[in-house]
Order: sequence, then C-alpha cells, then structure tokens
Amino acid sequence: MSALTVPFGISSSARSLPKLDGEDFVVARSKGARLFNTEGRNFVDYGMAMGATLLGHAHPAVVEACIAALENGPMPGFSNAIEDPAGAALARIGGERVTRATFATTGTEAVHLACRIARGATGRRLIAKAVGGYDGWFDPVRFGLTGSPEAERGNQRPVKEGTTLFRVNETADVDQLFDEMGEDLAAILVEPMLGNTGCLVPDRAFFEYLTQRARANGTLIIADEVMVGLRRGVRLVSEELGLLPDLVTLGKAIGSGVPVAAVLGTPAAFEVVENGTVPCFGTYHGNPLVASAVLATMAVLEDKLLYRRLFDWGAALRQAMTDAFAAEGIVAITTGFDSVFSLWFTDEAPRTYDEAKAKLQPDATRLVSESLRRNGVIALPAAWGRYFISASHGDAEMDVTVRAFRQAARDLAQSGFRG
Ligand SMILES: Cc1ncc(COP(=O)(O)O)c(C=O)c1O
Repeated sequence: MSALTVPFGISSSARSLPKLDGEDFVVARSKGARLFNTEGRNFVDYGMAMGATLLGHAHPAVVEACIAALENGPMPGFSNAIEDPAGAALARIGGERVTRATFATTGTEAVHLACRIARGATGRRLIAKAVGGYDGWFDPVRFGLTGSPEAERGNQRPVKEGTTLFRVNETADVDQLFDEMGEDLAAILVEPMLGNTGCLVPDRAFFEYLTQRARANGTLIIADEVMVGLRRGVRLVSEELGLLPDLVTLGKAIGSGVPVAAVLGTPAAFEVVENGTVPCFGTYHGNPLVASAVLATMAVLEDKLLYRRLFDWGAALRQAMTDAFAAEGIVAITTGFDSVFSLWFTDEAPRTYDEAKAKLQPDATRLVSESLRRNGVIALPAAWGRYFISASHGDAEMDVTVRAFRQAARDLAQSGFRG
C-alpha cells in the first residue's frame, strides 16, 4: 500500500513525471522560466504548467494584483467590481466580432458551458469534436483522444453521450458528417492547433471549408483555444487560421497560473445567455482573485515587444533543437507555433491524425526527455507532448537548453536511433 494520501501524490495524471534514476520530481518553487525541486536543483521548464503560464512562473505584476485581491476579499459572492472589466479586457482577444465573455474556473468547464450554449442556441443535441483533440476531462468529450479505440478509422462514426467525431484535414469526412448527422448537429468543437496530436495545425483551406459547411447548416463553431489562447498575440488564433468561431473557450495563459477560464462568444451566440435561456453557474467563476489575475495578465500583454521577443526566442530554440539532431545525423522537425510546438523525428509534418500516429517515436521522445532532465531541462515525456515557452525564457535558459539538446542528440544517436 502506498504511503501517500493523494494517489501517486498528484491529482492530475497528466502532470506526473516518472521517476528518473530512482528519483522523484517534486517541485518546491517555480519562478520565471525555472522550476526548483525539493532536492534544491533548478531546471529550465518547457512544461510551463501545461501552458498555464505564458508570462513565466510567479510573474510580479500578477502576484501583486492577486495579493491586493486577497487582501480586499477574494470571494465576496454577488457581483464584484473587477469581473466585468476583466471580461472586457479578455474580450479584446475576440476583436470586433466575438465581443461577449463569461468566466469559468477550468478549461474543461469552459468547454462544458460552450457546448451547453451551443445546444441552447440551436435547439440541437450533437457536438462533433476532432479525433485527437483534447477538450477537457468531462465524460462526453473525453472521447476520440489520441490512442483511444474510437479514434481508429471504422465503418461507423462513433457517438457517445451526444458527442461524435470528425477528422481534421479530411473534407470527405466532414461532408459525410453533415450529410448524415447535420440535422442534429449543434456545434463543431475543434482546437485551432491540435496540441495533443503533436501540435498539428489543420490547413487554412480545411478550416475555411469547415466554417462554410457549419454556417450553411446552422451549426455553431466552438474554437477550443484553451491551450493556444494568447500564444500568438491578443487575437483569436482560430480566425487567423481561417476558422470563424461563434464561441471560443479560453483558459491556461489568461490567468498566468491562477485557475480561471472563460467562454467568449458573438452577441448572437450569447443571446441565450443574455436572455436567461442558458444560465451560467459556478461559485468561483469571475471572483476578484481570478479576475485580477486576468486583468494583470492582459495589461502585461499590451507590450507588443513582449510578443516579438517571445516569437524570436521560440524560433531560435526550434532551430537550435533541429540543428542539434542534424549534427548527429538525425532528421527532426518541429510543428506548431514559436510559443508552443512539438518535436518530430521525421522530415515531413503530419497532416492527419493517422499520419501523426504513424510518425510517433515514443522511445526516442522518452530518451530525449530523460537526457534533458539529467542536464537541467524539463520537457514533457509523452510522445504526443509539446514544448511551451514563456516570456521569461532568456539567454541563460537558451544556453542551458542548447547544451542539453546537444547531449540529448548524442545520447539518442548512441542508442542506435536513426529516425
Ligand atoms: C485544448 C484544451 N481544452 C481544454 C482543456 C481542459 O482544460 P483544464 O485542464 O483547465 O480543465 C485543455 C487542457 O489541457 C486543453 O488543452
């Protein structure tokens, strides 16, 4: 029997790192781009709380705003003076089209609420989510995940608790979905970049086609931007990539590590919220503590130079990573964006879930992540994993990381791996 009260010592299995050389990895403190473990060692972090911090751990502006909110009373209940200003600051992401906002606590809840709004607005039941997409852990959408049996190609489209699946970059599959199930299709739920399918970014032509079919069918589009929100600037990633959402879910980076999520929507989609047909609940939603974290985060992101530096830094890291493997004769590429990307040992980025699955190299990914960890760098060990960078990663972190990648590439080559 385990001596731990919390099974495995961690409440989300997605966050657990395996033992390495007999040692557990338990974080005592995090600051900027670094994690400090209970053994006193520090590591350059590329997990960045699964993307939940874009500014860096414990950003001073967010910490200061949260302390003030705590001292002022974090949970007054009722309406509070910070909630609507925080919503307005956040809605800047939606531009002139997606102008309404409401808060939740986690990305999972935001997706749950967005689905409920879509069902209320259309009077239909079915939500179609992308195969390989991760949209939270509540039962109906914990479906079609990478490696799941229902993600496999079959004769019949799987349906579970009002959710069905479609395949990105496959227009014939989308046609079949609308032809067979269009009448009951309330919403398409899709990430602009499939973060859990190794940062697969669907083609613009596919997203434009999906938008056109959804519009023609009266089906709403929910862009799940919980992972990518704010990672390409203060704007919608979906719109930039050709997908025109009616509803957008956000989480992670919007609170800089404080648990807060949100649903943005067009006035038309939010009509059912505004007229009370679809009520929103949640004791903690939009409380002064989380609203202050959102306001402070959005204020820091006013600095356009921050994004320029973030993207340049990420581009330099991606290049250094692939160069390190090339020096050992190993072909590697990265997919995704400069602020969040995946590493593949192949010369061509996968375009579909099936291609991505075929190109996975779990043993190589594990070996690289273990080698990096021995050399002071934390990267997610899962084969479908990704690297999150932050505005706090600087020259010192680049030096440590490049050295660690050169060693990881040598270790991988020495293991006999050639790609
Ligand atoms: C795209 C996406 N949607 C939803 C979620 C669920 O968010 P949370 O873990 O805050 O519930 C995640 C979490 O990783 C995500 O990446």
